[in-house]
Amino acid sequence: MSEGYRVAVVGATGQVGTLMLALLRERGFPAREIVPFASARSVGRELEDGLVVRGLDEESIQGFDLALFSAGGATSGEWAPRFADASTIVIDNSSRWRMHDEVPLVVSEVNPDALAEHRGIIANPNCSTMQMVVALAPLHREAQIERLVISTYQAVSGTGRRAVDELLDQSHALLHEREIAAPDAYAHQIAFNALPHAGSFAPGEDHTDEERKLIDETRKILGDPSIRVSATCVRVPVLNGHSEAVNVQTRRELSPEHARELLDAAPGVTVLDDPAAAVYPLAIDASGQDDVYVGRIRRDPGHERALDLWIVADNLRKGAALNAVQLGELLDERGLIGSRAARSAA
Ligand SMILES: NC(=O)c1ccc[n+]([C@@H]2O[C@H](COP(=O)([O-])OP(=O)(O)OC[C@H]3O[C@@H](n4cnc5c(N)ncnc54)[C@H](OP(=O)(O)O)[C@@H]3O)[C@@H](O)[C@H]2O)c1
Repeated sequence: MSEGYRVAVVGATGQVGTLMLALLRERGFPAREIVPFASARSVGRELEDGLVVRGLDEESIQGFDLALFSAGGATSGEWAPRFADASTIVIDNSSRWRMHDEVPLVVSEVNPDALAEHRGIIANPNCSTMQMVVALAPLHREAQIERLVISTYQAVSGTGRRAVDELLDQSHALLHEREIAAPDAYAHQIAFNALPHAGSFAPGEDHTDEERKLIDETRKILGDPSIRVSATCVRVPVLNGHSEAVNVQTRRELSPEHARELLDAAPGVTVLDDPAAAVYPLAIDASGQDDVYVGRIRRDPGHERALDLWIVADNLRKGAALNAVQLGELLDERGLIGSRAARSAA
């Protein structure tokens, strides 16, 4: 038998899935076979790299070492446990398993040791949370975060491919002075607009699920349920790359200069902070890049133990596909892939 793992990519035709396939190759993940899965609509379709899409069924999911999921919560709810029962380690991009006590929620630079606690399913955080905690973890280790006030400016790619098409179609129509079709991906027109409604409102809820994810997932990843978090998530007409204005209040005093040093030394972070020269992170520059970019690092004039930051990253890369592949790499480095199959065979 040839070397390497047998890897399933579920949701392989989507934005995140396509990128996961590319990253597995580009980063030289030790796979002897990669099998793409998607919905019944795509079964039999040949992807750019020649791989042919398969459908999920009891037979087709057998014999994998690792499965990377990005096919929405319903698919993860149904199929991730079945892969796990077949001794496959699942890394899931949906929100379905993130807050389960038995499922570690892991960011490669922040809490990699949590991987060892997995029982078959590992969750990849929400994109807005992911990029934020990469930047906040070094500050939290140094000065203990007490409270966060977050406003996000989220790109349409975070909603999926149809939202990207909708922004482009609406923009094109408006620029050509044509009527736009009724909004489908969002409640209102997204082109030339800002929607204080990223995610969805459950009945009776005054926060969107996206805002709740930022609150709950941040506490779980940083391992501190006492951190107070206030979040407003806004969808903006940006194609790709989420931006976040974050007010960080710490228990110990932290100067902007020291925060800049900590962030400069942090893995996966690039500091871009020379506002007088108009240097700060921008979504269009972060798109297509792996790092989380931080700038506008400054003292909050309204609080002696608070800083303001501007954090930007590619929501499809570090916010989803890249972290999933990095978790796969960490599992490999730590000898954690295959150990489930070996354990259940023993
Ligand atoms: N976009 C982001 O920034 C981001 C960030 C973090 C996490 N995520 C999560 O990643 C997931 C995918 O996001 P995306 O932006 O890549 O969405 P997308 O472009 O709309 O792709 C969705 C993928 O899921 C597949 N799929 C849908 N229903 C399925 C089913 N019943 N069985 C098997 N496959 C099915 C689709 O296959 P077909 O092509 O056959 O329909 C497609 O491959 C979501 O759970 C999302 O919450 C996204």
